[in-house]
Amino acid sequence: MRKPSPQIVILLLVYLTGSLGSCSTGVGKPKIRCKEAERRALLKIKEDLQEHAEDGVLSSWGREEEKRECCEWIGIRCGNKSGQVVTLDLSPSTFARYDLWSLEGNISSSLVDLQYLKYLDLSGIFLYGNSIPSFIGTLSKLRYLNLSRTFLRGEIPPQLGNLSSLRFLDLSRNNYQKINIKNFKWVQHLSSLRLLDLSHTNMSLAKDWVHVVNNLPHLIKLNLSGCDLPDIVPQSSHSLVNSSKVLAILDLSLKPLSASVFQWLYNYSHTLVHLDLYGCKLECPLPIYLKNMAALTYLDLSHNEIKGSIPQYIRNMTAIAYLALGSNHLEGSIPEAFGLNKSSLEYLDLSYNKLEGKIPKSFWKICTLRNLLASNNSFSGGFQLVESASKCGNFSLEYVDLGNNRIMG
Ligand SMILES: *[C@@H]1O[C@H](CO)[C@@H](O)[C@H](O)[C@H]1NC(C)=O
Ligand SMILES: *[C@@H]1O[C@H](CO)[C@@H](O)[C@H](O)[C@H]1NC(C)=O
Ligand SMILES: *[C@@H]1O[C@H](CO)[C@@H](O)[C@H](O)[C@H]1NC(C)=O
Ligand SMILES: *[C@@H]1O[C@H](CO)[C@@H](O)[C@H](O)[C@H]1NC(C)=O
Ligand SMILES: *[C@@H]1O[C@H](CO)[C@@H](O)[C@H](O)[C@H]1NC(C)=O
Ligand SMILES: *[C@@H]1O[C@H](CO)[C@@H](O)[C@H](O)[C@H]1NC(C)=O
Ligand SMILES: *[C@@H]1O[C@H](CO)[C@@H](O)[C@H](O)[C@H]1NC(C)=O
Ligand SMILES: *[C@@H]1O[C@H](CO)[C@@H](O)[C@H](O)[C@H]1NC(C)=O
Ligand SMILES: *[C@@H]1O[C@H](CO)[C@@H](O)[C@H](O)[C@H]1NC(C)=O
Ligand SMILES: *[C@@H]1O[C@H](CO)[C@@H](O)[C@H](O)[C@H]1NC(C)=O
Ligand SMILES: *[C@@H]1O[C@H](CO)[C@@H](O)[C@H](O)[C@H]1NC(C)=O
Ligand SMILES: *[C@@H]1O[C@H](CO)[C@@H](O)[C@H](O)[C@H]1NC(C)=O
Repeated sequence: MRKPSPQIVILLLVYLTGSLGSCSTGVGKPKIRCKEAERRALLKIKEDLQEHAEDGVLSSWGREEEKRECCEWIGIRCGNKSGQVVTLDLSPSTFARYDLWSLEGNISSSLVDLQYLKYLDLSGIFLYGNSIPSFIGTLSKLRYLNLSRTFLRGEIPPQLGNLSSLRFLDLSRNNYQKINIKNFKWVQHLSSLRLLDLSHTNMSLAKDWVHVVNNLPHLIKLNLSGCDLPDIVPQSSHSLVNSSKVLAILDLSLKPLSASVFQWLYNYSHTLVHLDLYGCKLECPLPIYLKNMAALTYLDLSHNEIKGSIPQYIRNMTAIAYLALGSNHLEGSIPEAFGLNKSSLEYLDLSYNKLEGKIPKSFWKICTLRNLLASNNSFSGGFQLVESASKCGNFSLEYVDLGNNRIMG
């Protein structure tokens, strides 16, 4: 191949730089989308925050001329056309650093000048045990609000009930029950909610919580783990007219509940996929209501006081992949047909109960099973694992604990 002659190269360069030049003079400086008032509000928000890290996670935020485009600051997003700030995300993951509390300070009231915010995540900022500011209730376009792990405390201001577009609300893990929820009425107005995480708040006086939850039509996930919930009083089915038709994930673990919880959940039999009632001091037999929960793939009832035997219907719960019944008072033997039908079981915990008899052969035909925890029971008899293993094309059992039983083999 011939090299191009120097003249042609020079001509090309002239042409290119010329065209570049005319291009840049034609368009001028890139237009700044950021609104001046919103930029000032953001700078005020920064003033009330302190950074621990030396590199300064908010170093892109500044008054300098080259930093005028606040739409390009880390943690900020603006509407494409309007240039209004729609996202303020100061969570640790924004800064690609996963240590919590690298920012600390106060939430500036200048936040109310960001009226177009849809997404507000201040999780993992150390907010000094301040209370949740009521002015957040004026950000009427919010769809996502995350104040998890901020050390906020005190009452939740009822003004949060004004956020009727909110789909995700996370006020969880604020220093173990330092947030108080005395009534739940404000939640009732949040009719667009998909996810509500209030885990580790103090709800001991929120008597109306079941009624309110029943009336959130789009709620998919509810986490009230560690919330000291008042007892559930079964209500007339009339109150379910507007109830969630989609509640799939429910976590009420770690605090005492009575068996009436199952009566209530009967109404969500067809939608529940994930149910966590770990450590709720439940003192009842395994409830018949479970039989109808055909979609359930995750059920944790471990660390309760559940009595009686494992019911026959357990074999009909064919969707279940994670079943934890450990640390209860279950007795009797495992139903013979467990696992005979199509089964999806991957994790089974029966340990620390009073179960006896043989582990049925059918059991070893559950080819999906990976973890079997059965220690501290009174199981007896042999162990046909090896024989059956060959029947599974792809045997996946990785962990078996049968310690402290009377099994030989
Ligand atoms: C937060 O507010 C408290 C009390 O008003 C004040 O003492 C503290 O200096 C403020 N912190 C920051 C970082 O502005
Ligand atoms: C803005 O435009 C970009 C690029 O065209 C697009 O990826 C993004 O989804 C848009 N953002 C919004 C909020 O519409
Ligand atoms: C809220 O933030 C925490 C910590 O940054 C995160 O783990 C959690 O998933 C967030 N919640 C939601 C609903 O996105
Ligand atoms: C916001 O909530 C408060 C208290 O719940 C209420 O008095 C006020 O009218 C509400 N404001 C708007 C704009 O809805
Ligand atoms: C929860 O709230 C109740 C009623 O206000 C109070 O008696 C109780 O001490 C609180 N629990 C915790 C752990 O702060
Ligand atoms: C509920 O919240 C607790 C604590 O915040 C967390 O450990 C648990 O995984 C959450 N449950 C679900 C189903 O996400
Ligand atoms: C159901 O919702 C409609 C419309 O929001 C309301 O008028 C009605 O009172 C609600 N019914 C119940 C039982 O809550
Ligand atoms: C839900 O179904 C049960 C039947 O188990 C019923 O007794 C209860 O009152 C129903 N409604 C509510 C709101 O729990
Ligand atoms: C299991 O399901 C089958 C088919 O729906 C039904 O006939 C049978 O009675 C159920 N068994 C139990 C123990 O519930
Ligand atoms: C489980 O298997 C038994 C016996 O083979 C059968 O009668 C029953 O209908 C099956 N249940 C389901 C849910 O497939
Ligand atoms: C479980 O078995 C071990 C070993 O025999 C025993 O020391 C322990 O006390 C048992 N745990 C319970 C809760 O029974
Ligand atoms: C065998 O196991 C592997 C890994 O667990 C999985 O990816 C694969 O789909 C399984 N194959 C069959 C036939 O079950």
